Amino acid sequence: MTTLVVFESYFGNTEMVARAVAEVLGADGPVRTLRVAEVEAGHLEGLTVLVVGTPTRQFRGGPGIRAWLAKQPPGRCAGMRVAAFDTRVDPLAMRNPVERLVANAFGPAVGPIERHLQRLGGTLVGPAEGFALESSTGPLRPGETNRARSWARGLLGALGDPPSAIGAPPPSG
Ligand SMILES: Cc1cc2nc3c(=O)[nH]c(=O)nc-3n(C[C@H](O)[C@H](O)[C@H](O)COP(=O)(O)O)c2cc1C
Repeated sequence: MTTLVVFESYFGNTEMVARAVAEVLGADGPVRTLRVAEVEAGHLEGLTVLVVGTPTRQFRGGPGIRAWLAKQPPGRCAGMRVAAFDTRVDPLAMRNPVERLVANAFGPAVGPIERHLQRLGGTLVGPAEGFALESSTGPLRPGETNRARSWARGLLGALGDPPSAIGAPPPSG
């Protein structure tokens, strides 16, 4: 299994999650962890797994990740297993109720990123996840790095299943 974890990070929190995820996925083969600005087309050749991590910015994914996804050709993730996560301010830390309402209305930033990966032909390994910060610049809430490792272990487990088994109903009888 060859894995690429691509992330965008301004204050280091998304990077921290990306590295924790990569460390776990590394149990099953080579893993590269790259800032989105460093990713070249060749880095995606022969990949088994692509994980994308983004900060939430104005209720959406980071501009770098969104621009990078937008320029990928159709079918770029065909044959890959994909997963995505975001980092976001803990809603309980949002003092402004309007901000909280808008955040809820938009939904998690990772949703459109995950769907974009699927439109590019990727097959989801597992559900997207969000990791909470205490404030805009961090730090991550206590326990979030461990939760990132757990999420990655879940992905690792799911990677053992054939793609068609993910989300398929249990066999009858
Ligand atoms: C310009 C800007 C916009 C932001 N918009 C949101 C937002 O809409 N929702 C949210 O939960 N956090 C928002 N944040 C907080 C970011 O999610 C947080 O800075 C980011 O997850 C930190 O990740 P990083 O350390 O990897 O940069 C925003 C932060 C900045 C600077």
